[in-house]
Amino acid sequence: MLNRKMEQAINDQINAELYSAYLYLAMEAHFAAEGLPGFAAWMRVQTQEELFHAMKMYDFVHGRGGRVALGAIPKPPGKWKSPLDVFENVLAHEQKVTGLINVLVDLALAEKDHASHVFLQWFVTEQVEEEASAGEVLQKLRLIGKDANGLFVLDRELGLRTFTPPAQA
Ligand code: FEO
Repeated sequence: MLNRKMEQAINDQINAELYSAYLYLAMEAHFAAEGLPGFAAWMRVQTQEELFHAMKMYDFVHGRGGRVALGAIPKPPGKWKSPLDVFENVLAHEQKVTGLINVLVDLALAEKDHASHVFLQWFVTEQVEEEASAGEVLQKLRLIGKDANGLFVLDRELGLRTFTPPAQA
């Protein structure tokens, strides 16, 4: 059984994951409008990943006899200065989410909630990947600078990304 404190904290994280999905959907719309379909496709996959994260937590709350309580999802920004600006924001956002996950892990330990602690390990590992994939694109964008050809090549490459639901889920 999930205690109230842990239940509230995971519900807050469900909201944060849904906001992440919303943020990446806004970035997809931005890239689509800017004529960068590969970047937009990358963001679609990112949105699907965030929805997966939210649902994984949603199912966990129910599985532990808790109650899911959904809150309002804040409005995401709609415009960015450049692809570089977008990915600087993606990395900063993922670093923030990593911090939120770490706080959840700390809470699970403080509450001696071992089941939540084990469950959250998946997210700890996932955040390493999330930061790495954002950082990888960011690094390429820094190398490309203002080279339009480089941007088009990267757009094509990012368009190849596909969503594969993790097997253990
Ligand atoms: Fe759900 Fe991108 O972390």
